[in-house]
This record gives sequence, C-alpha cells and structure tokens, in this order.
Amino acid sequence: MKILHIVGARPNFIKIAPIMDEMARYPDRFEQVLVHTGQHYDDAMSRVFFDDLDIPRPDIDLGVGSGSHAEQTAKVMLAFEPVLLEQKPDLVLVVGDVNSTLACTLVAVKLCVPVAHIEAGLRSFDRVMPEEINRVLTDQVADMLFTTERDANENLRREGVAAEKIHFVGNVMIDTLLRHKERALALDILGQYGAASGGFALLTLHRPSNVDAPEVLSGILDALGEIQTRLPILFPAHPRTVKRVQEFGFEARLAALPGLRVVAPLGYLEFLNLMASARLVLTDSGGIQEETTILGVPCLTLRENTERPVTVTEGTNRIVGNDPQRIVSAALAVLDGKSKAGCTPELWDGRAAERIVSVLEEGI
Ligand code: UD1
Ligand code: UDP
Repeated sequence: MKILHIVGARPNFIKIAPIMDEMARYPDRFEQVLVHTGQHYDDAMSRVFFDDLDIPRPDIDLGVGSGSHAEQTAKVMLAFEPVLLEQKPDLVLVVGDVNSTLACTLVAVKLCVPVAHIEAGLRSFDRVMPEEINRVLTDQVADMLFTTERDANENLRREGVAAEKIHFVGNVMIDTLLRHKERALALDILGQYGAASGGFALLTLHRPSNVDAPEVLSGILDALGEIQTRLPILFPAHPRTVKRVQEFGFEARLAALPGLRVVAPLGYLEFLNLMASARLVLTDSGGIQEETTILGVPCLTLRENTERPVTVTEGTNRIVGNDPQRIVSAALAVLDGKSKAGCTPELWDGRAAERIVSVLEEGI
C-alpha cells in the first residue's frame, strides 16, 4: 500500500511522527512518501521537529510558503496535483485542520484517490475560524475519518457522515508526547530561560482572532502586564504574532514588562519540558490544550470556544476568552490553588497510531 503523507505546519509534524514510525515497522506492507507543502518554513517552525522527533526528511517539498488563504490554498493545490498524478498512491493521509490539509484533500478526492483524515470531527462551531472551514470541508469529502474524542464522532454523524467511515482511535499528538516525555524532561533548560520549576507561566498566542486586531491584542497585553507582576511569563512567540506586534507598534509595551520574556518558537522537546514544569499555561493553541491535559498542568485557553471539549470536561483546560479581566482573574484563581486535577481522556494512551494503521490495513 503506497501512502502519501501530507504535512505543512508545525502541529502537523508532531501528528505525523508516530504514524510514520508505526508504518515503518511493516516495510513489506507500506510504502511511505512524505510531502511537505512548505506552509511553515522557518527552521524553528519546521526543521527542528524533524530533528527532535526523528521524522524522515520530506521526499517532496512543495515550497509554497505564506500568503492569503486563497493564495496559499491554491498554491498548494497547484503544486500538489502533478505530484499526486506522478506518485499514484493508494491513499493520501492528511492530519489536522490547516490550509495544507484542505488543499491536498480537495486535489486527491477530485482525482479519485482515497483520503484518510487524522483528527477528524473536531468542531468549534465558529466559522470565523479558518480552521473550522478546513475541518468541515475536509471531513465532508474524506473517505476515512479518524477521531480523537467521542464528541467528534457525534459531530460527524450529525453532518451526515456514514458511521462506517468513522474510526475512534485516540490522539496521535498524545502518542508523540508519551513517547518523548522522558527525553524532554531530562533536558536541563529551565535555567536557560530564567524559569524555576512550578514558578512560571508559559504562553503561546497565534490565533488571528487574538493577534490580528490591535484592540484585542492590546487587551491581552494588558492582562499579561498584570499577571507578570505575580508570576513570570515565558512567551515563545509565533512568527504571525511577532509580525503583528511590530505592525501595531507594541514592541516597547512588551519590552517594558520585566516579568515577561519573549523568545523565539521552541523545539518540541524544549517546549514539552517547559510545559511540564509550568505553574500554568496560557494559550490559544489547539494541540497545547490537549498536551496540558495529559501533563496535568492547568491550561487557560484565551478563546471563546474549543473544538476539543474533552480537555474541558475531563482535562485541565478552562475557556477564558480574551477579555482582559477574565484572563487575569482566571490566572489568579490558579495561583490561589483553584485548578482542576483532570483525568486522561479515553484512548489517549499512546497507541492511536497503532489503531490507525490496523484500520488502514483492513480498510483498503
Ligand atoms: C497556521 C494554521 C493554524 C495553525 C498554525 C500552527 C491555517 C489557516 N492556519 O497558522 O491552524 O494553528 O499554523 O502554528 O492553516 N510565518 C513565518 N514563518 C513560517 C511560517 C509563517 O514567518 O515558517 C509567518 C508569515 O508571516 C505568515 C504568518 O506567519 O504570513 C502566518 O502563517 P500561516 O501558515 O498562514 O498561518 P499560521 O498563523 O501559522
Ligand atoms: N510547540 C512547540 N514549540 C512552541 C510552541 C508550540 O513545539 O514554541 C508545539 C506544541 O507542544 C504542540 C504544537 O506545537 O505540540 C502546537 O502547535 P500550534 O500551537 O502551532 O498549532 P495548533 O495546535 O494550534 O494548530
């Protein structure tokens, strides 16, 4: 069975790693070709994950780079179509909800190549989020839908997806976390970032709804300004956010906060080490909501919704939105010891890739 794996952006690399590892155990059954669309291209957003997670170098790099949604999606489609025609795989495997996911799915289904979508069925029910459009459309046309939580199965059924296409297998992002946790924790890096175990907050921000509007980002900076007087904040800043901070002239405001340290995006192992040692994680990331649940670290999600409700109902996640006062009071509540212990969601046991591979073997 020849599989074309698609990756493009940071979270994709983390999701593909355990799947490729698992298939590599059966070289007589799977021929794997890795396609990198080039959506993310900085070393800190791409190469570092191949190194940290031992992912094979991409066989094909489409090199599309950044652009508007239409531009980026169209460039991936144009570059991917000839690759697909030449490679003639039995299956295209896409992960997550980024523009590369949808673009390659559309190309494949129109050439009648089956598509497997990993992390299907998640819904924020917020169509202003570009990822929500990517999720809904990918799931409508994909042939095999692998889900991480039971809510996702319900969402898909409600949208009319046939039950036999849906496979609840668990979470490959957690496969990667469990596999690399020990190695990450062995790194001695806290001091390097001026952080003490349990004595800092880790922050990530990159959602357009938080960082693309100056008034919203300004409010979040106000909240961070208050929190850093009580707890130092370490902020590995996403390139989108760095660009916006510069555009809006907020650099001096950030620099004036003595308790907030901005650093470049971190590698997987370093970031995992810091997440596990943090008193609190503030984020608008999808994957980080899941990882903090498994690590048992309190997570405050600076969004009005989540497509990963199990992290709230069973995990350590709280949805706090982007209102400055709400963010500050939620952070202070954690410092006052008011946080949830959380438990491990069903099938987030490190064996999702194994389940995916056995379904694929039966299904094609
Ligand atoms: C994308 C995904 C988002 C995901 C995130 C993970 C879409 C619609 N969005 O958002 O779902 O959560 O990746 O991090 O697919 N840039 C660089 N260097 C890079 C990559 C990007 O400087 O290596 C800058 C460029 O200015 C670019 C901007 O970041 O315009 C945004 O990049 P893009 O891939 O369009 O979206 P993300 O915000 O990264
Ligand atoms: N991550 C990382 N370094 C960082 C920030 C995040 O390795 O500086 C990892 C994080 O642990 C998770 C993934 O990147 O595995 C999440 O990616 P991101 O937040 O960019 O995307 P999302 O999950 O929101 O789509």
